[in-house]
This record gives sequence, C-alpha cells and structure tokens, in this order.
Amino acid sequence: MSLLHHHNLVLHLLPFLYLYVSIQPSFSQSFTYNGFTSTNTNNKITNLTLNGIASITNQGILKLTNTSSHHFGQGFYPIPIPFKNNLNKAIKKTLNSFSTAFVFSIEPEYRKLGGHGLAFTFSPTKCILGAQPSQYLGLFNVTNNGNASNHVFAIEFDTVQDFVFRDIDDNHVGVNINRMTSINSTRAGFFVDGDLMKHDLCLHSGKKIQAWIDYDGVTQELNVTLSLFSIKPSMPIMSFQVDLEPVFLDFMYVGFSASTGLLSSNHYIFGWSFNISGKAQSLDLDNLPLLPQIKKNQKSFVSVFYCSVSVAILFLLLGGGIYVVKMSKSIDDVAEDWELDMGPHRFSYKELKDATKGFNEKNLLGFGGSGKVYKGVLPDSKTEIAVKRILKESKHGLKEFVSEISTVGRLRHRHLVQLLGWSRKKGEFLLVYDFMGNGSLDKYIYKNPKMILSWEQRFKIINGIANGLLYLHEEWEQTVLHRDIKAGNVLLDLELNGRLGDFGLAKLYDHGSNANTTKVVGTLGYLAPELTRTGKPTTSSDVYAFGALLLEVVCGRRPIETKASPEELILVDWVWDKLREGVLLEVVDSRLNGEFNEVEVMVVLKLGLLCSSDEPSFRPSMRQVIAYLEQKMPLPGVFGQLCADGEKEVFVVEFDHCVPFS
Ligand SMILES: *[C@@H]1O[C@H](CO)[C@@H](O)[C@H](O)[C@H]1NC(C)=O
Ligand SMILES: *[C@@H]1O[C@H](CO)[C@@H](O)[C@H](O)[C@H]1NC(C)=O
Ligand SMILES: *[C@@H]1O[C@H](CO)[C@@H](O)[C@H](O)[C@H]1NC(C)=O
Repeated sequence: MSLLHHHNLVLHLLPFLYLYVSIQPSFSQSFTYNGFTSTNTNNKITNLTLNGIASITNQGILKLTNTSSHHFGQGFYPIPIPFKNNLNKAIKKTLNSFSTAFVFSIEPEYRKLGGHGLAFTFSPTKCILGAQPSQYLGLFNVTNNGNASNHVFAIEFDTVQDFVFRDIDDNHVGVNINRMTSINSTRAGFFVDGDLMKHDLCLHSGKKIQAWIDYDGVTQELNVTLSLFSIKPSMPIMSFQVDLEPVFLDFMYVGFSASTGLLSSNHYIFGWSFNISGKAQSLDLDNLPLLPQIKKNQKSFVSVFYCSVSVAILFLLLGGGIYVVKMSKSIDDVAEDWELDMGPHRFSYKELKDATKGFNEKNLLGFGGSGKVYKGVLPDSKTEIAVKRILKESKHGLKEFVSEISTVGRLRHRHLVQLLGWSRKKGEFLLVYDFMGNGSLDKYIYKNPKMILSWEQRFKIINGIANGLLYLHEEWEQTVLHRDIKAGNVLLDLELNGRLGDFGLAKLYDHGSNANTTKVVGTLGYLAPELTRTGKPTTSSDVYAFGALLLEVVCGRRPIETKASPEELILVDWVWDKLREGVLLEVVDSRLNGEFNEVEVMVVLKLGLLCSSDEPSFRPSMRQVIAYLEQKMPLPGVFGQLCADGEKEVFVVEFDHCVPFS
C-alpha cells in the first residue's frame, strides 16, 4: 500500500521533473527572498505556492495564518528540489546537503494565551492534502500521523506542549519525521558567540527570529541554530545525526506550514534563503519588510503565569490530556455489592423518569461537562430534586462509579449539595441531588445576572464554599478532591447559601463516552498550571480554582474573558496589575455601586491572588483560607516586581510573610 502510494507520487511528478531537469541540468539550487514580492537584484521573484489561509501581505511578508481559528496555512517554493544524487547510481545513494535560513515571527492573538507554532517542511507535494490544523500544524492528520508513506520531514517551532506527542515544553524546536512526535527536541534558545550560556528565546513573543537549518548529506549531521539577530551564531541549539535518506524522495518541495487552534496566532515569514550546494545566505534583519504598525495594546510584561497559563489553557482546548484512566475489569455483581452498602438510595429508573416528566427539555436546568441536569419532583413525597443524567456508551467504570457514589453519598455538610441517590439503566447513570432553588452562582455574577448580589451575600457565599471545601479536604474521614470548582458548580439554596455541587465525582467523568479519550478534568481558567504537567490533582489545585472563584465573585466576571481588552483578558493578571498600581479596589464589580466592606474586599482579593499563585507551595490550605477570611490571621503582604530577564520581562511574585495585613 505504501509502496504503491510512493510510486504514484513519483509518476505524477515525472513529467514535471523531466521538464525541470532538462531546462536546468545543473542540480544546484539556491534562492533568497528578502520579502516575497520585491524582485531580487539577480533573479526575478518566483511566487510561492500558497495553501490554506496563507497569503502574501502588501508588505511582501508571507502570512501563513491569521487569527481565524482551526485553520492552517502553507507556503511552498513551487519548484521541487533534487535531494538525491541519482546520476551516480553506482555508489551508495546519499542525500544532498542542504542549508536554509529564514526569519519568522509568531504573534498570538492573545499574547498571554499563546497559540500553535509553525514548521519548516519538506514534502513530496506542494500542497499537503488532508492535513489538519491545531496540534497537527497543517502537516498531518489523525489518520496518517506516523505513516512512513508521508515522506514528510519537518522542523517544528512549537509553542504548545502537547502531551500526546510527548512535547518537552511549550517553547521548543523539534525534529519530526512522518509524525508529530519529535525524534529530537530542545527548548528554544540561542547562543551568543564567546558566551557558553544558552539564552532564553520565547518563540511566540512576536519578535523576528532567524532560524538556520543545516544538513550534511555525508556526515548526516543536522544542526538547528536560532538567533534574534542577522549574524549566525557559531553554536547551534540542536545538533545530532539522523539519516534522512529513507525519508526523502528524489525530489521534494520545501516550505512552511503553520496552524491555529481555538486560540490563534499570526505566523509570519519575512525572508528565506535556501541552498543545496553550500551554506544558505543569512538574512539581514534590517533588509526585510516590516509589519504595518501593530496596535500596541498587548501588555509589555509577561507574568509568571505566562507560559503555564498558555499551556494549561491550550491543552484543555486541544482536548489532549494526561489523566489516563484505567478501565475496570468485570462489573458483574456490582449492584449486589452496592445493595449491601449503606450508601445513598437507589432509585428505580422509572421513578426518576416520571419525576422529570420523561427527561422533558422543559425541566432542563443546565448542562454539565458530563451530562444534562433536570429538575424533578418525586411523585410520592413531592420532594424537589435535581437529576443529573450521564450518558455512557460502555459499561466500563461502573464499579468505580458505584464505589464513588457510596463514598460521596456519605458526605454531609451544609455547604455541599447533598447526593440523595442514584440509578442506572443500560450505560446511563443518574445522580439525584437536593434541588437548589436559586440555581448556580454563575447566573448571578457575570453579564445579565438574575439579580445583583450584595457584598454581604457574596461574602456569605464565599465563606460557605470555603467551609464546604475545608470539609472535603480535611474534615471528613478521607481527603476528597473536588477537581472542578467553578461558579457553575456553586449552587445557591433559598437563603442564598453557597453549596458546592458535583464534588468527588469528577474522577468518574474521565471515562467519558470514548474510552480512548484522555482529558484533564477541570475548567478553563480554574486549572492550576502544575496539573497539566503532573496530571495529578491535589488539594492545592482545588485551592487554585477556589482562588479564581474568589476573584470572580468580587469582580463580577469570568477568569478569562475573551471579549475583554487584552489587559483585562486574564482576571488574575489584571487584578495583579491593579494591586501593583495601588488601585486594587478598581477591580471590584461596579454593579455594587461602591457599597462594600473595604477590609473584607481587600482580604478576599489578596487571598484570591495568593490562592492563584503559580507555585503550589505558596497557596494556603483551606484551613488557612478560613483563618484569613475570618481575619483571625493576617494575610501575608503580597507584592510583585517587574524585572528584566534577558529577552523576556518576568513578573516576579513575592510573598512577604512579615508585612502585617492592612
Ligand atoms: C506573482 O504574484 C504577483 C502578485 O503577488 C503577480 O502580480 C505576479 O504576476 C505573479 N507572478 C507569477 C509569475 O505568477
Ligand atoms: C483569514 O484569511 C482567510 C483567507 O485569506 C480569510 O477568509 C479570513 O477572513 C481571514 N480571517 C481573519 C480573521 O482575518
Ligand atoms: C489524512 O490525509 C490523507 C492524505 O495524506 C487523506 O487521504 C485522508 O483522507 C486524511 N484523513 C483525514 C481523516 O482527514
């Protein structure tokens, strides 16, 4: 099959190749673009072949992608390059050496959230068919990823850490042969001659970066070098031996590919030189086209949250994941085990179906990540209930489900939504909860709220949830992690007491409908950065999410508000900014009309920042949180400092435990 494919390709190319070879008998091939429209001094411009959303800007810059989500863009040199010296068939085939230099920049739509990277690509065709955007960078798709018949060789400049492809970090250079998983990769950086230190280089800083890729066909050594300048440093950041002969066809196209996912970046190539018979000419950065003046609304500083926030978020959006779920074996007899347990009541399916009028859409209270929630009334007792319906395709996980329910069903606290019982039918699970008359908190704090909660009401809710979470973490017989704390999971009873819903069960939802999908449990904006690295939820990652919740309740907005201005995009960063500027109270929800207890608001905001710390060890425990909220313990003084660390400005956060709380 793969041979056939290969063969076909060669056949397709044959007439063209023949033409090419006969016109230009020499195999030497070199070109230089200082911008992609202006004609060169010695040769006229050869237009690139553009695919996807790639375009050439008026300034002559190759713009591989714009900010449209889930697209890719490719730009290839339209003439195939001979990579194998076929004239001398008697000796062992070796690949021709090649050398290239190009200048690129990656400018995310939201600087702090990042976006996908780009790849310098060798391909048998000048349009990679069936390629997918997002994590596939417009190079492969989910089906052909890894096939030897792809004959695709790429050097990726990757700005997302995808755990599925075993990426080392969210800012690396990787070498990919026929698949997205790199055979070698290294953190992006550059050397300065006369200095042994590798300097950091943020690939998606929007700055012009020059890259050199050199391959020696005889020694099979591949070198990749990066710099922010025109002159090539003598020290590459990556150097290793790889035999590319099996990957390359006799003739290959060379070019660039980049993609966007849900978050997007503009990917630009300003200039490019390529040489197959010597070193590629380095590009003079001053001689390249300039982008039209970009609106300067991106913040100049990069907070400590920068890289981790972008990883965490992108990761979620990509649907990639790390929490690998072990499937249980047999699930027979589980029901009997269950009946022996003194856990919550098992309802009959019919009882719940009747209670919700046959899961009538009119009774729909909301959608969770894992299923729909319906309002119901139990026919006999007339008790109002909320029924969560989780659809599952397979019976896998039933045992865990049942044991989890027996645990969760025994948790009792006035700030938790009580699990009353459960039911199941043909891979469908039903959970029955106390009905909460006032719905979820998110309906009260974002845009167009049901009603504006006063500060006293908000503070009461915060205190309630803190106590509920303390109970889960420390006061029950075993530690229970919530794993999905967010405004949507805070329910309000008729007295507007905050009650935490959906606790303890998050683990079960990992099973999802597809046993092969793995995913991080949690919600965008509430996910602690270390979760994406370790995949291991802790009480500290719950505290991180609780911190996001505190800030939301005070500010009356979501942790990530894509409609907000870039300064306000990420709530925690914005609150930090205001704290640094000494105008912290400016973040308070304006709908409170200034009617709030300033001391309490300051405590909650600073506590929110403390809980949202990137560094888990800085975050307080829930017991400490409560002591801070009750003002029984002074909050540590929280302040930040802006320092320049080489290329990148880093916002260093320090917690000074000596400063008394004000
Ligand atoms: C190359 O593109 C320019 C516009 O970008 C066009 O005017 C020109 O005709 C093209 N040249 C060829 C050979 O297609
Ligand atoms: C991106 O480019 C494509 C193709 O050129 C165009 O259709 C689309 O409107 C552009 N999107 C944005 C956000 O500029
Ligand atoms: C993947 O790409 C190949 C071409 O390389 C194409 O034939 C196939 O249909 C694509 N598959 C998907 C799922 O897009």
